[in-house]
Amino acid sequence: MNIKYFVILLFFELCCGDSFNLNVTEYFRMPPLFELDNYEQCMASEDGVFCVVAVDVIKEPDNDVTDIIKKYSLHKLKQFNHSSLDRGICVTRSCKEHNIDNLNMEDLNIVLSECINETIYNEYKVKTKVSRINYCHYSKRQEDVDVDIGDWIFAIIILIIVLLNIIGTLYDAQLDRTKNENTGNQYLLSFSVFQNWNNFISNEQKDPRLRSFQGLDVIRTVLILLVVMAHIIWFMSFSFVDNPRELELLCSVQQL
Ligand SMILES: *[C@@H]1O[C@H](CO)[C@@H](O)[C@H](O)[C@H]1NC(C)=O
Ligand SMILES: *[C@@H]1O[C@H](CO)[C@@H](O)[C@H](O)[C@H]1NC(C)=O
Ligand SMILES: *[C@@H]1O[C@H](CO)[C@@H](O)[C@H](O)[C@H]1NC(C)=O
Repeated sequence: MNIKYFVILLFFELCCGDSFNLNVTEYFRMPPLFELDNYEQCMASEDGVFCVVAVDVIKEPDNDVTDIIKKYSLHKLKQFNHSSLDRGICVTRSCKEHNIDNLNMEDLNIVLSECINETIYNEYKVKTKVSRINYCHYSKRQEDVDVDIGDWIFAIIILIIVLLNIIGTLYDAQLDRTKNENTGNQYLLSFSVFQNWNNFISNEQKDPRLRSFQGLDVIRTVLILLVVMAHIIWFMSFSFVDNPRELELLCSVQQL
């Protein structure tokens, strides 16, 4: 690409990629996006219950924290939605003051809502309610795994691939290649571990026309590295990171 266009695009990004910036003091007046209790410690106790829940901040007209949250969350592309929080909570440790014996799912929702609302309200003066219980784990209850049709299909496909690999490798091992390189069933051989390994580590092209494209291998290598890196960063924004502010700063060019 012509360097001119690159510069124009860069300036476009600098001027028009707007975001709403908060100084640190203001930022940390918002309740944290993610918080997880210690799962192992929770499961270690006899009757541990650990729930992962989504929590919504309830907007109030004259509450300046919810105002900040509302303004800050408008910039969807570069900043997280801070009115939707995630909590991994050990009900049996963090909600001790509530009645937590023999809860069914509905009671659990109420207890979690009250307990989380209380904890967040005490520190940040915003009201919240649980919008969804993603799942709960009980240390006492043996989790029943029901194997359904999808599991079977997956297992059978994996089994077929593994079998093809074993058969292809054995077939390759007993093949006599001294006379003719291209002997044997090529479909079966494409599953052979030996043949795949050799192809994987070789950079020779048999076809002379393809040799002139060898320079492209460099570009391929660099692109693959970038693809891996981009996916790592992308996945990070879907997980419960401890410092989402850093991710947000990374995305807003003005801060760099
Ligand atoms: C952050 O911004 C708020 C409001 O704009 C202001 O009152 C406060 O003094 C600022 N804090 C710092 C550390 O700059
Ligand atoms: C942020 O999340 C809340 C609660 O899930 C939702 O009501 C709101 O529309 C979202 N805001 C934006 C800007 O997407
Ligand atoms: C959250 O807690 C506050 C303060 O204790 C209370 O006033 C409010 O009614 C609670 N909200 C919910 C939805 O439980």
